[in-house]
Amino acid sequence: GRVAVLMGGNSAERAVSLKSGEAVLNALIAAGVDAFGIDVQGNLLNAVSPADCDRVFIALHGRGGEDGTIQAILAESGIPYTGSDVLASALAMDKLRTKYVFEGCGLKTPKFRTMTSVEDADDIVAALRMPLGVKPAREGSSIGIRKVGSREELVDAYEAASEHDPLVLIEEWVEGPEFTVSILQEHALPAIGLSTDHVFYDYDAKYLSDDTRYQVPCGLAPDDELRLQQLAQEAFRVVGCRSWGRVDVMQDADGEFWLLEVNTAPGMTDHSLVPMAARAAGMSFEELVVRILEDTLE
Ligand code: DAL
Ligand code: MG
Repeated sequence: GRVAVLMGGNSAERAVSLKSGEAVLNALIAAGVDAFGIDVQGNLLNAVSPADCDRVFIALHGRGGEDGTIQAILAESGIPYTGSDVLASALAMDKLRTKYVFEGCGLKTPKFRTMTSVEDADDIVAALRMPLGVKPAREGSSIGIRKVGSREELVDAYEAASEHDPLVLIEEWVEGPEFTVSILQEHALPAIGLSTDHVFYDYDAKYLSDDTRYQVPCGLAPDDELRLQQLAQEAFRVVGCRSWGRVDVMQDADGEFWLLEVNTAPGMTDHSLVPMAARAAGMSFEELVVRILEDTLE
């Protein structure tokens, strides 16, 4: 049947999603799938109707499209969709609650506090070790994230982050290297190592810079990569995710891995990380997209 690729949306990651959606749509068409794209704008309730399509490939990122909202609408409309269900999508969108689940399951994640006003700064400085990461709890693509080394910077960064989300997560910064593990059909693909001359793998390093370095193979010893992949699968599982996604992890100087977050609708531009990992596993972008589609829940 016909497949609708949902892209764009109203989130801060709209531009990234348009690129993901375009790449997914082209790959589906190249693979002979009867697919068409929908640039989702305005009311999500009217985004797609069962009269138009038999299933949906979600290429939306961020709030509305990756947080359980569109998933609930599609479920209620009886339209099968790719990726995780309502609960896992909503949970994974919220980095703070995701960390509660990681901790509750005994999985290492950097020590953290929430910040809901500048008055919290003293408590946070007393409780956590600098430098700190300041993150809007429900945002993607590193939008609104800063690394800070002082109380003053913390307050500034909090004010900037809270423009994206009133709920701000403060966590101890792990210097890295950063790794990401893509999950496809519940299995871990080869890990990718990320390095950048930016302070961290920020929006520019992700989408604009030419000097971001992606390492596949990731450079870890085989045992360590396996440990990392198993950790990522476990993180994916405890958050309740299904089918596909991507788990972001930092490694500290002692070799310990620290979970940052799970992405349930990760970037699918032709230079995004999941396609890169698939390629390292011998899979073309087309094959990857078709496998995600075939994995749709009925
Ligand atoms: N939020 C971006 C799209 C990612 O995780 O790839
Ligand atoms: Mg994310």
